[in-house]
Amino acid sequence: MASASAACYGARPIMTRVPLRPEPAGAELSVLKSPPDWAQVFGRRAPLELEIGCGAGGFALEYCRRNPGVDYVAFEWRKKYAREVAHRAQKHHLTNLKVIEGDAREAVPRIFAPGSLAQLHLQFPDPWWKRAHQKSAILQPEFTRLLRTLLQDDGRFDFRTDVEDVGRRGIAALEAAGFHNPLGPLAFHPYDPEDPPSTRERRYLVSGAPVYRARLLKK
Ligand SMILES: C[S@@+](CC[C@H](N)C(=O)[O-])C[C@H]1O[C@@H](n2cnc3c(N)ncnc32)[C@H](O)[C@@H]1O
Repeated sequence: MASASAACYGARPIMTRVPLRPEPAGAELSVLKSPPDWAQVFGRRAPLELEIGCGAGGFALEYCRRNPGVDYVAFEWRKKYAREVAHRAQKHHLTNLKVIEGDAREAVPRIFAPGSLAQLHLQFPDPWWKRAHQKSAILQPEFTRLLRTLLQDDGRFDFRTDVEDVGRRGIAALEAAGFHNPLGPLAFHPYDPEDPPSTRERRYLVSGAPVYRARLLKK
């Protein structure tokens, strides 16, 4: 894994420190060699959504609170974030949120079946400024195509960033992988005040700094 400081480009956790759990969050899921029966994992059948890189979990926790009818899996490879978000989910009885500590690029292809996801969330992915590090970016062509296959036919990709170039390259990568942009090629989506902000996004809503958003459809 790349260094943690590089990985969150200056983001500081805004949550109260809690004692970290001794074991990795979601270890029972991250080790699976094939997709589990997610209805069994969550104890019911519900639309399944996936977030890659939930960070301090501001979006995941609030989205799951507002949408009790959705089952949500949040990947985060930084131990302190993953375990704190898992702790908060448990504390607030959010049984519809499972946090998995680990590299989403490695585990997602193993534990989600094609057509199993209703929505994917990628919010403020690390921009990986240095060319040598760009292979760590989430929206690499092959992985982006794989993510599209995991969505159900009416599935949606929610993408946000504060870096305009990352936004433009991200939308281009998604469209190149076959996603449909209902607002037109390379178009950003306007701010939706009904949508919970991510931890990082909250800062920009306060400061007024621009955020580049996209909502693309599988078809
Ligand atoms: C800039 S932070 C944004 C966090 C959060 N989405 C937000 O908007 O506040 C990006 C997060 O993605 C995580 N991340 C990056 N690559 C990852 C990967 N391959 N698997 C899991 N987490 C990853 C980083 O550790 C970091 O917490």
